[in-house]
Amino acid sequence: MNSDPAAPLLLFDSGVGGLSVLGKVRAALPQAPVIYVSDNAGLPYGNKTEAQIAARVSGLLGRLTERYRPRLVCIACNTASTIALASVREVLEVPIVGTVPAIKPAAAMTRTGVIGLLGTEATIRQGYVDRLEAEFAADKRLLRHAAPELVAAAEAKLRGQSFNPAVFARAAAALRAMPDGERIDTVVLACTHFPLLERELAAAFGPGTCFIDGSDGIARRIASLTEGQSWARPANPPGGPDAAGPDAGDTALFTRHDPADEFLMSALRHYGITKRLVF
Ligand code: DGL
Repeated sequence: MNSDPAAPLLLFDSGVGGLSVLGKVRAALPQAPVIYVSDNAGLPYGNKTEAQIAARVSGLLGRLTERYRPRLVCIACNTASTIALASVREVLEVPIVGTVPAIKPAAAMTRTGVIGLLGTEATIRQGYVDRLEAEFAADKRLLRHAAPELVAAAEAKLRGQSFNPAVFARAAAALRAMPDGERIDTVVLACTHFPLLERELAAAFGPGTCFIDGSDGIARRIASLTEGQSWARPANPPGGPDAAGPDAGDTALFTRHDPADEFLMSALRHYGITKRLVF
């Protein structure tokens, strides 16, 4: 592992979803320099084929790791991880932490034995999810639903743009309408965009439904893999990134210039990101 104190953690997603992971990583490792990558030129991943996603993710991570020499890469995207984690690990030397649907903790949490899972179209059809279900939830009922509309809603929410509020009720109704769906008490948010909408989803599912995602486990894993290492973040001012000079804070890289991303800056600052570049 590259243990230069300035070597960053690189978090990768198709869009803003990885910020739900960054929030937990930042809380666990406040001093860690971070490069957040949004492949907004490829967004959404959920409606792409396995071959398209695998090629895109390995190609980009190859170029990014060469350029930025991170000490660790986190694929903060369930779609990319369930499809490309193994192949990316085979070709890159850097440690890679993936994001996989939190079926194991959900199976431990459910009281009714019925778990809902919301993800992208690509994620819910993966053998990786079948294997997690067989290993950890074989005695439970796992109901899967693809909710691509929620990806667009999260992207709009973080830019302060309006979105159709009916998408939350639609996702809840789709799971509730499946056999045994009325008994769902635990919902796996198997797309990193969805924890950014947890308040809206909780209102749509109603009281008594718990939500779980992989971000706590990822933060713990990254903290344990980097234990004892020193960190030199661009600046760690006591007053937060806004109180710092021009070089303070972390950087977000986008794969496409989009003037609308200017509206993301206040959300990004909340995660300690003060600079925006196109890669
Ligand atoms: N945030 C991504 C995930 O965790 C996918 C969103 C998309 O690009 O469709 O699956």
